Amino acid sequence: MPYVLATVNLKGGVAKTTTALHLGYALAQSGMRVRLIDLDSEACLTDALYGDVALGRATVLDALREPSRGLAAATERVAKLPLRGRLDLVLGADEVYTAPKAFALAQGRQPVATFPQVLPYLLARDCADCDVVILDPGANWDALNDAMLMAAHAVIVPVVVEPMAVKGLKRFMRRLATNNAGRAQAGLTGQTQLAGILVSRVLPDQEDDARAFLMEIDRAGLRRFALLPERAYVPNSPIIPRATGQGVPAWHLDARDAAARAYLALAEEVAALAA
Ligand SMILES: Nc1ncnc2c1ncn2[C@@H]1O[C@H](COP(=O)(O)OP(=O)(O)O)[C@@H](O)[C@H]1O
Ligand SMILES: [Mg+2]
Repeated sequence: MPYVLATVNLKGGVAKTTTALHLGYALAQSGMRVRLIDLDSEACLTDALYGDVALGRATVLDALREPSRGLAAATERVAKLPLRGRLDLVLGADEVYTAPKAFALAQGRQPVATFPQVLPYLLARDCADCDVVILDPGANWDALNDAMLMAAHAVIVPVVVEPMAVKGLKRFMRRLATNNAGRAQAGLTGQTQLAGILVSRVLPDQEDDARAFLMEIDRAGLRRFALLPERAYVPNSPIIPRATGQGVPAWHLDARDAAARAYLALAEEVAALAA
């Protein structure tokens, strides 16, 4: 079974999709077989890596609605990388949030009994050839995202520096605990761990706030990524939006970029967790 990660936060615009893309590329570059699954109705990852959500193409919604169809038809090779690394994308869909209801309509004819069992079923069925799967959800908290969370071994929580951020993180951790408590009832074993908090998009004038925030995270006993000795956060970088927009990692545009290096360091930490 692959190691299944999700980039999660109850907020939008905190670099969930940026993190999924950069982490995916970096792990694939290091020789891993990586699959990204776009679970956001905004389908930003699909737009970046594949272009506009294509009409007539199978998407992740088809597989979630009718798991017996599997993921293969919705899976696109993004890049073949050195060392036998590989990056795939399971295409997203604007209406992916309708998946739980669509699944329920045909529940009697499905290979699994409940919606939270759908993703684990698809991962076991179609992702056995992957080392790592990264789920990229939207920011709205609904039945799809609850199920998404239950399918993940661990979550990466990107967060931006702002006054209420630690409160938001504590709220998220309560949500994770509730979700973990509900897994047995959903017919699932195991627990979803916090892989780490990732402080992202730190502007130059936020550096002091970022250091204070990192200390607050540590005091709260929450695991965070260490990244680089000189910087435990991802700085704001003008090339990140360009990189994500073009569906390439930032180091492709500028290998010296500080955010690019932070994402490469993140991948090393994640690879150690996945090992
Ligand atoms: N380190 C960064 N520097 C500059 N812009 C960033 C950085 N990280 C993310 N962004 C930009 O912020 C916006 C939101 O990021 P995104 O990954 O789409 O967030 P989410 O998936 O959480 O909604 C995007 O335009 C992205 O390019
Ligand atoms: Mg996103």
